[in-house]
Amino acid sequence: MFKKITNLLTAISFFAVTTLFGFSASAQQAPIVIKLSHVVAENTPKGLASLKFKELAEKKLPGKVQVQVFPNSQLFGDAKELEALLLNDVQMINPSLSKFDRYTKKIQVFDLPFIFKDAKAAADFQKSKDGQDLLKSMEDKGLIGLAYWHNGMKHFSANKEFRVPNDIKGLKFRIQASDVYESFMKALGANGQKMAFAEVYQALQTGVVDAQENTYSNMYSQKFHEVQKTIVETNHGILDYMVVVNAKWWNGLPADIKKGLSEALAEATVYNNKIGQEKNDEAKKLIIDSGKAKVVKLTDAQLTEWKKSVAPVYAQFEKDIGVDLIKSAQKHSQAAQPKAEKPATKK
Ligand code: SIN
Repeated sequence: MFKKITNLLTAISFFAVTTLFGFSASAQQAPIVIKLSHVVAENTPKGLASLKFKELAEKKLPGKVQVQVFPNSQLFGDAKELEALLLNDVQMINPSLSKFDRYTKKIQVFDLPFIFKDAKAAADFQKSKDGQDLLKSMEDKGLIGLAYWHNGMKHFSANKEFRVPNDIKGLKFRIQASDVYESFMKALGANGQKMAFAEVYQALQTGVVDAQENTYSNMYSQKFHEVQKTIVETNHGILDYMVVVNAKWWNGLPADIKKGLSEALAEATVYNNKIGQEKNDEAKKLIIDSGKAKVVKLTDAQLTEWKKSVAPVYAQFEKDIGVDLIKSAQKHSQAAQPKAEKPATKK
């Protein structure tokens, strides 16, 4: 009898132990799923860096996280992705800096035309205290910025030959959802039409809009050059991104997961910023080689014509953005002026 009871107790303990451990092992095995949604093609700086982040995160946290990347507006397009993040329908997104102005007016500083001399000046500003503070400026709205990712400088394209603002008067330009760009278009004598990125190719093809502004990488990967006649290298603005997460979700992650994801993101950011320029140079060459759109480099005098138009845009937005923040951003372009541009002294 005693032996029977002992055997029964042993069996019960064995069952309890295996069930308990089996359950906790499988609970440990269920990875945290991170949906990362974006709107561009995979073979772009952001598309490739998103895949790199997946690779690194899953390597650093084996079995603990699974990153699902959805490119090309497959899961959410421009209009919905920020809302979806706040609803935790997606855990990580990396929209362009032009798409946050509903959440912070200060971020409009990045959209001011010709504020950055080149992509390096924008990157230097992003690294500064003011740039880093902007990553944290939407926490009260439930969004945490974790990193800036670069794409590059933007240029104008249109379905006609053009060189200076006078040539584009009255044209309809697709713009991102940015009030600053709407004002910029007005200042140039054109009409800005806010439109989701996924709709641009068709809108250009069917003539719903005549023109657009973007980086070479986006123009090539979306085939905009096939439905545009001229691309004018204006370098009028920066197309960079902010990698953002839902604050509640991020703050609720276990410490080891947060650490692993932060490290993966830091490495993916270095990778993104390394390939940004390369992918844009490569796309420019492919566009030229295709012979479909003419790529035009402006003379200094022509470029001055474009720059002349920006004063009313700055006047309109300086109160919302803050004069000090504008100066802080401009400072990096002044520092980036090459010495050779100083007036030559007579001998
Ligand atoms: C992007 O690069 O994420 C899209 C930019 C755009 O909407 O033009």
